[in-house]
Amino acid sequence: AASQGHISVILLGATGDLAKKYLWQGLFQLYMDQVSSGHSFTFHGAALAAQEEGQRLMFDVLKKLSCPPDEPPNRCAVLKDQFLKLSQYHQLKTAENYTALNREIETLLGQEGLKEAGRIFYFSVPPFAYTEIAQHISSSCRPPAGAWLRVVLEKPFGHDLESAQQLAAQLAGFFREEEMYRVDHYLGKQAVAHILPFRDQNRRFLDPIWNRHHVERVEVVLKETVDAKGRTSFYEQYGVIRDVLQNHLTEALMFLIMELPANVSSAQEVLQHKLQALQSLWGLDRSSAVLGQYQAYDSQVQEELQEARGRVSTTPTFAGVLIHSDSPRWEGIPFLLTSGKALDERVGYARVLFRNRAYCPQSGSLRDAGHSQCKPKQIIFYFGHGALGTPAVLVSRNLFQPAMPKDSWKEAEARSDLHILEQPLSDFYMYSPVKERDAYSVLISNIYHGRKDFFITTENLLASWAFWTPLLDSTSRQPPRLYPGGVENQQLLDFEMVSGGLAFTLAEPAELLSPSRH
Ligand code: BG6
Repeated sequence: AASQGHISVILLGATGDLAKKYLWQGLFQLYMDQVSSGHSFTFHGAALAAQEEGQRLMFDVLKKLSCPPDEPPNRCAVLKDQFLKLSQYHQLKTAENYTALNREIETLLGQEGLKEAGRIFYFSVPPFAYTEIAQHISSSCRPPAGAWLRVVLEKPFGHDLESAQQLAAQLAGFFREEEMYRVDHYLGKQAVAHILPFRDQNRRFLDPIWNRHHVERVEVVLKETVDAKGRTSFYEQYGVIRDVLQNHLTEALMFLIMELPANVSSAQEVLQHKLQALQSLWGLDRSSAVLGQYQAYDSQVQEELQEARGRVSTTPTFAGVLIHSDSPRWEGIPFLLTSGKALDERVGYARVLFRNRAYCPQSGSLRDAGHSQCKPKQIIFYFGHGALGTPAVLVSRNLFQPAMPKDSWKEAEARSDLHILEQPLSDFYMYSPVKERDAYSVLISNIYHGRKDFFITTENLLASWAFWTPLLDSTSRQPPRLYPGGVENQQLLDFEMVSGGLAFTLAEPAELLSPSRH
């Protein structure tokens, strides 16, 4: 059955949080999906803990793996048994440990008479450990010629352009570009991953309107109710811009604004067009951003960092940023990226709002009568959580009825009592995934398939940092405005960003008021 060859997956940090929450489940999903692919698999969890303890911790996690609702329970139970048998723990600490792991893999392949297809090393460890591990893998765990090596890396990838360049240069000493898979888990969110296929399948309708003449603005929003409690030592160094705007929100924006490749399943074309879109961004300075910090943040830092500090924190926990592109397609069109902790709701989406060319008096009878021409026209890629609780693609009914792939997206019954962004759901065509998958399962499947367009290349990473770093520099010492946090943050309404004649309020970042009232 294993004529396609054997794949060894090595998960470093096998007993850590991310592994427990997502990665083992994602690997199990991979096994369920690919068990009949012709590949054979082994799964090697690795960590610093000694053999016995590490093994116990790891199998505690594996025993709790769950079956997705779309999987027949009997099959799943059988496959789970097999998955556990194919998994083992390794203490990986010293150079000898790595050599021993390599020998074990070789011996196993020899005994079973298997050809080696490839090895996946998943780094679920803090970045300070990257270089040492990279060195060990590169010197003693490379598969033989003819088999591939894929190393998977988790953020943060630096904290500004310079540090990202340094880290990239170090890794380049050990791995080739095509061997590295840098994770941005937003690229695995089903709604984000579907942006390009959606644009592609609906080219005929969208082509003529996907531009500055028809689009009013583009937004990517991630509002969170959680705060930074328990992670302030990380958060103090990063803040909201580095934590989510530079990566997750920028990536989602790129899928919306990049030129659509002729072939959206060509990783190379996608990556190239995305890079061009990143390079077309401009205009970040202090006046392009509104920064906020929830009131309790500084005292949480005080409590958790335990060190004497002669200052209050200026780390932003909220940011609303106005971005422009100088591409002919988008010139003059505002892109708004907004995210914050301790806000009033958890919601995340990317949306394109189209201009409304019909005559619609602000509070006139037409609108009151629900005249369809006067309702907003928009396409929303809804990431999940929030009011809908599921990833979704929503298209205003007065815009067009989109083509969706029947095998992966189903038209969902839009519950009439629900509203999204102030509009009744019944105003939208709404689609949700046939099989709901978490971002990590999607990404792990794409690592297996070698789909590099689901990951961040070095060029992409550096272009993004090159764009964001000037804003980080110019805002680093400016105190953000305080907001109450939690459900009481109505005061966000008072914040306004004024830039280039545009203003928008933070509580309703969607509302871009033009021209400025100032
Ligand atoms: C992570 C950030 O990368 O993304 C977190 O470090 C943030 O601060 C999270 O909460 C958001 O991801 P999701 O999938 O919960 O929307």
